[in-house]
Amino acid sequence: MSRAFVDARPSATSSTTTATATARARRPSSRGGQSSRRGSRNVARRASTWREDAAGDEAREHSRVHLPFGGARADETASPSPSPSMSGWDGDDDDASTREFPSLFGFSGLFGVPRGAISRWDSKPTPLRGLTEEQVPKHVAVIMDGNSRWAERRQLPRTIGHERGVNALRGVVKCCVSWSVHTLTVFAFSQENWGRNQMEVEELMALVETTMRDELPLLVKEGVRVEVIGDLSKVNVGVREAVTRAVEATKENDALRLVIALSYGGRQDIVQAARALARKVAAGEIHPDDIDEDAISVHLSTHDPDAAANDARFTQAPDLLIRTSGEQRLSNFLLWDLAYTELYFANTMWPEFGEAELRRAIHAYAKRDRRFGGRA
Ligand code: FPP
Repeated sequence: MSRAFVDARPSATSSTTTATATARARRPSSRGGQSSRRGSRNVARRASTWREDAAGDEAREHSRVHLPFGGARADETASPSPSPSMSGWDGDDDDASTREFPSLFGFSGLFGVPRGAISRWDSKPTPLRGLTEEQVPKHVAVIMDGNSRWAERRQLPRTIGHERGVNALRGVVKCCVSWSVHTLTVFAFSQENWGRNQMEVEELMALVETTMRDELPLLVKEGVRVEVIGDLSKVNVGVREAVTRAVEATKENDALRLVIALSYGGRQDIVQAARALARKVAAGEIHPDDIDEDAISVHLSTHDPDAAANDARFTQAPDLLIRTSGEQRLSNFLLWDLAYTELYFANTMWPEFGEAELRRAIHAYAKRDRRFGGRA
């Protein structure tokens, strides 16, 4: 049976994840424990955030909510032509950059550009060619970096950069659906991002809430299932409600699992997993020697029970991490999970990352020799 709820309570025990905000929706997997998405792509439904209270500390209750992404609605799309992000333009193209903006927050009007989304659901990505199924990453993680620099270089408000970032995300999601990537995990807002100025934080949260609401019908239609990981106790009620709605509405989808890291930090995730295990030891439920890599993996917010049916250490982890904007660091993203992930750094600013760039990253991945510490 599926269920979903949001629960936000202050915690007496934690300074890093000070409250619990949980939205869960689970249903039994209908694919008989098979972790591969090829052929069958059902993934267990669940949504929960970091649990600090001992009462909610049973195994497999993780920091997970499901939420959508997005921007302007497809039916608002002004131009039928492919977007810069979807056509894969690499360099700066100021005309393209300022020609079409999403209608969020009315900025389109401010800059005298047509309202409308840039990446359209109805413009189909070109199929991936020349790759075997094994060469396509099952799980892609993305640090969507460079929104602000992209905007600053065009003397545009930072918010426009973030809005364009949403458009780029839409295009990448579309490619992942089309190319049979099973899971896409994106870093939407880090724990450290709370330290940005209040206005930018509020703008980002408003963007998350608005785009979740606006994109939801299309996400449902396209079969995207949304999950969210992170400390949602810090986000406002509007965002949490939008998250819960999206989780519920997409929970039966299986074309793509879209995991949005929101108010997320890799270290904090490991901390909450350690606490959960410590509580089990204290309660006599497990012995300290029972704590191994698998035990930690299943207590992380990133845990995917379906993937774990095979090997929790690897099958649930990203195969490929992409970071845009030329920066080459992890910035506290998925620290445990990225242990054996292939890293790919693109110079493109996130608002301009599109089909061509994703295709390039996947082809680069296909050439990697993954040994997981062993020998070929
Ligand atoms: C990094 O740019 C990007 C972010 C902090 C936010 C990314 C968020 C989105 C694209 C919106 C996602 C929305 C949903 C609903 C998932 P930056 O400002 O750090 O850029 P800089 O490196 O140039 O300073």
